[in-house]
Amino acid sequence: APPASVRIVEVGPRDGLQNEKTIIPAATKVELIDRLSQTGLRTIEATSFVSPKWVPQLADAAEVFAAIRRQPGISYPVLVPNEQGYERARAVGASEVAVFSAASEAFNRKNINASIDESIERFGPVLERARADGVRVRGYVSTVLGCPYQGEVPLADVVRVARRMHAAGCYEISLGDTIGIGTPKKAREMLLAVAAEVPMQALAVHFHDTRGQALANVLACLEEGVAVVDSAVSGTGGCPYAKGATGNVASEDVVYMLEGMGIATGIDLDRLIETGLWLSQQLGRETSSKVARASQ
Ligand code: HMG
Ligand code: MG
Repeated sequence: APPASVRIVEVGPRDGLQNEKTIIPAATKVELIDRLSQTGLRTIEATSFVSPKWVPQLADAAEVFAAIRRQPGISYPVLVPNEQGYERARAVGASEVAVFSAASEAFNRKNINASIDESIERFGPVLERARADGVRVRGYVSTVLGCPYQGEVPLADVVRVARRMHAAGCYEISLGDTIGIGTPKKAREMLLAVAAEVPMQALAVHFHDTRGQALANVLACLEEGVAVVDSAVSGTGGCPYAKGATGNVASEDVVYMLEGMGIATGIDLDRLIETGLWLSQQLGRETSSKVARASQ
């Protein structure tokens, strides 16, 4: 049965913006996060301390993170690919980080220039330092329902990567359909396979809406008991190293569905919609949130 309440992990400022071609001013990113902090969200992924050569859009991570007005009760995780990223994040006071690996060998090579085993080894020191520093670590497994380079991703590989991340100390594992290729039955099966090895309370789902399946996939996973959902305000997003990957499921649409089902999120939908419309104006295009469009 679906949970009574769901925590939304807002990934717009990171996953949403990382794929934008035109460089967005740091002040706009800061304003986005500050606006999101007023919506009732409890987790806002703020930015990414990856190599600026690989993701130029987020080269201003330190500037942005240092400038946001962090609110009590909200965590602001940041993506880090290695120890260098961890140090940059800590230097500006980040107290939660996220590490990531694909379940697909081919994708990992393109995204972070490393094999699965190498990438897991690489964040070993990050996890050790985080434990010593009292920093919480979230883990992402990407390409859980398919890979743009190798096609099918065996479920056993998804389970293995998720289990290793959890065993290494990640408090939560987010399962990402990076290229939005999955359908509800596959999403459900994937979640259940992982949940046999990692407790459901430690799992989150992360769907991209490339083929219009994201909300259906979220619903299928909610029915199996997942209670944490990643989404991006205004439906922005995509991974620069996943060809054809488009937006994350829109936070507004997820919140609308959840509230409609009587599942509490603690989020003020009107404020969220307002923030998403403001962002789409900044980006110079229409919002990808159906709920936001309907409100206009
Ligand atoms: P590399 O080129 O193999 O590594 O990149 P390197 O160690 O040889 O470093 C190359 C240069 O980058 C060096 O500088 C380093 O100092 C620098 P140089 O000596 O050439 O001047 N460097 C850094 N600079 C700043 N911060 C750092 C850092 N690390 C190295 N942290 C690396 C390897 C992992 C760094 C690179 O491949 C990378 O940054 N990749 C990130 C790609 C990325 O961000 N992809 C999108 C995120 S994943 C995603 O979106 C999926 C998700 O949303 C879930 C889903 O949808 O499924 C999470
Ligand atoms: Mg993503």
